[in-house]
Amino acid sequence: MKGVEVSNLTKRFRCGNGAIEAVKDVTLSLAQGEFAAVMGASGSGKSTLLHLIAGLTKPDEGAIRIAGIDVNELSDAALTAFRRQHIGLIFQAFNLIPSLSGEDNITLPLLLARARPDRARVDSLIARLGLEGVRGRQPDSMSGGEQQRVAIGRALVRAPRLVLADEPTGSLDSLNGRKLCELFGEITAESGATVLMVTHNPVVAFAASRFFILKDGRLVGEIDKTACPTVQDLNQAYFEIVEGARSEVGRE
Ligand SMILES: Nc1ncnc2c1ncn2[C@@H]1O[C@H](COP(=O)(O)OP(=O)(O)OP(=O)(O)O)[C@@H](O)[C@H]1O
Ligand SMILES: [Mg+2]
Repeated sequence: MKGVEVSNLTKRFRCGNGAIEAVKDVTLSLAQGEFAAVMGASGSGKSTLLHLIAGLTKPDEGAIRIAGIDVNELSDAALTAFRRQHIGLIFQAFNLIPSLSGEDNITLPLLLARARPDRARVDSLIARLGLEGVRGRQPDSMSGGEQQRVAIGRALVRAPRLVLADEPTGSLDSLNGRKLCELFGEITAESGATVLMVTHNPVVAFAASRFFILKDGRLVGEIDKTACPTVQDLNQAYFEIVEGARSEVGRE
């Protein structure tokens, strides 16, 4: 089934007299249900790529198809409706609503869609994410990790077909980050969602099954987990690609 198809995507930001190419000619595709990680150093274009796929930023060149639909052909209103219905977003800064409780932050997408909350699903998500203790509390009283888990709950509450997660475990240590990503992978696998998760940390990325490596806005490598059975293998392959010692683009 068609998941996400990104072709020849380029995004430039104007800066002074010149422009920064934050994403350069990136082509990648994900089958529906795949869990992939986008890895790369700070400034390599990871967040920009995710924002482009979410239709939050318009590309200068290239196209994005989600379930066969070219998202940039949609009107703004149709794109917003499409995003609300099909995409779960987890931002690098969690973007929780400060005045709402943990539970109300999680169920906000249901309210926006005028959908009746599926109590059992909401309760199960809250329990699996370990958020019972914060369901009635506002974000400013939560730890960074709790806020991240609320942001994950909010992204998953409508069982979207595509989940875009930007450093969803950035405020956790590597191992707890990976555990949370594994849980996140389990919940999304149950609903058949495609997941694209950004991280610069190979230990966290290891929860995914495919890895795209960005460097200076370019896709410089692609690794399949079958080629890297351990975190150490992934770490080594990642650094070899980033250092230019090997190129895996196009390798299946
Ligand atoms: N709105 C913007 N205006 C100008 N430049 C931008 C903008 N957003 C990003 N950039 C630039 O584009 C490049 C890629 O930024 P991006 O945020 O995508 O990196 P990243 O890989 O997500 O980094 P990090 O790991 O630090 O979050 C950087 O050089 C950044 O300064
Ligand atoms: Mg970023």
